[in-house]
Amino acid sequence: MQNTRECRFPGNFVWGAATAAYQVEGAAHEDGRGESIWDRFSNTPGKVRNGESGEIACDHYHRYREDVALMRELGLDAYRFSIAWPRILPMGRGAVNEKGLDFYDRLVDELLDSGIEPFVTLYHWDLPQALEDEGGWTNRATADAFAAYTHVVVRRLGDRVRHWITLNEPWVVAWPGYALGVLAPGRDGGEAAALQAIHVQLLAHGKGMEVIRGAAPEAQAGITLNLTPIYPASEAEDDVRSARYTDGRENRWFLDAVFTGHYPDDMLELWREHVPSIEGRDMDTISMPIDFLGINNYSRGVVRADPTGRNKLGLDVRPENAKFTDTGWEVYPDGIFDLLERVRREYGPRRIYITENGAAFPDVRSHDGQVHDPERVQYLEWYTDSIGRALEGGVPLAGYFVWSLLDNFEWAHGYWKRFGITYLEYSTLERVPKASFQWYRSFITRRKAAAKETQRVG
Ligand code: FCB
Repeated sequence: MQNTRECRFPGNFVWGAATAAYQVEGAAHEDGRGESIWDRFSNTPGKVRNGESGEIACDHYHRYREDVALMRELGLDAYRFSIAWPRILPMGRGAVNEKGLDFYDRLVDELLDSGIEPFVTLYHWDLPQALEDEGGWTNRATADAFAAYTHVVVRRLGDRVRHWITLNEPWVVAWPGYALGVLAPGRDGGEAAALQAIHVQLLAHGKGMEVIRGAAPEAQAGITLNLTPIYPASEAEDDVRSARYTDGRENRWFLDAVFTGHYPDDMLELWREHVPSIEGRDMDTISMPIDFLGINNYSRGVVRADPTGRNKLGLDVRPENAKFTDTGWEVYPDGIFDLLERVRREYGPRRIYITENGAAFPDVRSHDGQVHDPERVQYLEWYTDSIGRALEGGVPLAGYFVWSLLDNFEWAHGYWKRFGITYLEYSTLERVPKASFQWYRSFITRRKAAAKETQRVG
């Protein structure tokens, strides 16, 4: 049983780990970095738990060599990290800060010297504050600024970086960031602001794709969406209808736009008063072909109809007898299987990478100095088993990135929620590989051995 399982992943399957600039780098004021919306938001009292910020974070900016050594120890094929836009263009556009580019140059070289493929995300939420002051993601000019920024980065790193991700999770930027105000930039403009922020981000994605195609024609490029499979709480018609709308907000709004060039009709109708201004060739830009779709998935949603009928998207249900992680997200490994199958069936992407998957648990260092995190090991075993099943079923899955290499600044939660397979002792910045790190290392070794064996026998 174990053996057949191990054969599922082909030899060129990419095993990786992911981080994001603001969550790990620190060095917020170094080498000419400009202010980002996350610096501003974190410094606004009451926004982030305990008033914490990414000012020091994991100090990856200075300790990246040590972190790449951890990746080597893990046997990773790839490392997904993001570039801090305000390090490159402190004011969002205009003057380029060479020292910022130098850092990523060093990081990329260190990775390549270690045989680890860089997967670079251009935008993981740290918009230059100067652009936010001009309307941020609700301002169409931000999409052009993103294209110009992309050009600067790809010109510098494009000779070595072969995988580019334009944006990370435009959903999160738009809804918690622009509609509800609970993540940076902290605006509470409701549906209209969210839909406008999504549209401008997707435009930025399309324009960024055009730039990458021009500047690095050999590279593979795509976008990372956070997708959550949504299940109705029952077969009742109104529950099913609500779940369908919620699926529209979570998934179809993005997938339809990127793969078909249309926002879904039912959602356009539902949100008719808030629909963003769509100009000329916007939807063509948004739907230009991508080489791969990046999917971040952690959990699922269960929805029942709102008995008052007011909220067409229904109400979230917390399933009974289920397991939950420290962020309250249900552990539901079948969800990633269903999601992958569905994306393949309905949208037919050329290739898919799971660009994030993982779990937070309240880890502690025990008296032996180690961190025992059996729940995370279990989570990862289950989820990787599910993606293996999807792969066998014909889903064009090319790689998997665990979130995260390190415990890090978990946005509005501060340092409270630990997602790492490496524990961070924040007072000393010491890195302590958790049991899940050791598990992942031996998992990767076994997968590689099994793939070789299959090749030999086959
Ligand atoms: C995702 C983010 C990532 C991290 C994980 C837990 O939504 O992309 O930065 O916060 O959640």
